Amino acid sequence: MAGKKIDNEWYKKWFGAKEYLELYSHRNSKDAAKIAGLIFRTLKLPKGSKVLDAACGNGRHSFFFASKGYYVTGIDLSEFLINEAKKKLKGEYKNHAEKLNFLIRDMRNIGITQKFDLAVNLFSSFGYFEKDSENFKSVKSIVQSLKKGGYFFFDYLNPDYLKKNLIPFDVSKRNRKLIFQVRELRENAVYKKIIIVKNSSRSYPRQYEFNEMIKLYSLNEFKTVFSKYGLKIIKVYGNYSGDKYNSNNSERMIILSKKF
Ligand SMILES: C[S@@+](CC[C@H](N)C(=O)[O-])C[C@H]1O[C@@H](n2cnc3c(N)ncnc32)[C@H](O)[C@@H]1O
Repeated sequence: MAGKKIDNEWYKKWFGAKEYLELYSHRNSKDAAKIAGLIFRTLKLPKGSKVLDAACGNGRHSFFFASKGYYVTGIDLSEFLINEAKKKLKGEYKNHAEKLNFLIRDMRNIGITQKFDLAVNLFSSFGYFEKDSENFKSVKSIVQSLKKGGYFFFDYLNPDYLKKNLIPFDVSKRNRKLIFQVRELRENAVYKKIIIVKNSSRSYPRQYEFNEMIKLYSLNEFKTVFSKYGLKIIKVYGNYSGDKYNSNNSERMIILSKKF
């Protein structure tokens, strides 16, 4: 079962593995431009604005913002993904290198003195801890790193949609790999087990196992927590096209808020 007791620090193993980037290879710069484009068009921040990409992964959104003239700090817990971002900084994005800074940091305790005009947390990079207090520490820390009047764009899944549309099991084949994904809802969290079997012409097939877990929070819970930490919700979107959030049928829950 996907939800059987998993390692509390599953995210270190999964986001530290190259298999994560392979499985989510469609989550590339083109895909990143959808939500980053929505943010860019909505806020119309001037060039030179300072952006914090909290849980930036391999930096795909950070690069978009830098290409629009913003100064971006991307932070992530995964050394592997930060190194991937830094590699791109020396390669395809070297023209924007002076506007980008990638750091290994825990978003529960960011510890950067610089204050930002905009902070983003994108593609369900939230809810990885069993304890609510640990999850909400990230919100507190992100708010502390914002200037007064700064914006927070938070792109999370819509729990109601997920509960109705969960695909419990699927198998896919990519190159020489078979990928099994098992999903389960339990104790107000969604669990996913990923099993990858790699075939090799030279040795026995090898099997790798990873877990994902996201705690599910409602919009009302976020309203309470955001207000506690000094954020005023301005708008809630339901997808990357910017349509209004509807708890019944929106795929995403994207909250735009402002520090007051
Ligand atoms: C689903 S990935 C999304 C990454 C990136 N936002 C994107 O869209 O490609 C979630 C990211 O959260 C990072 N992460 C998990 N817990 C974290 C924490 N406490 N502090 C900082 N980053 C964290 C992981 O290492 C991973 O890169």
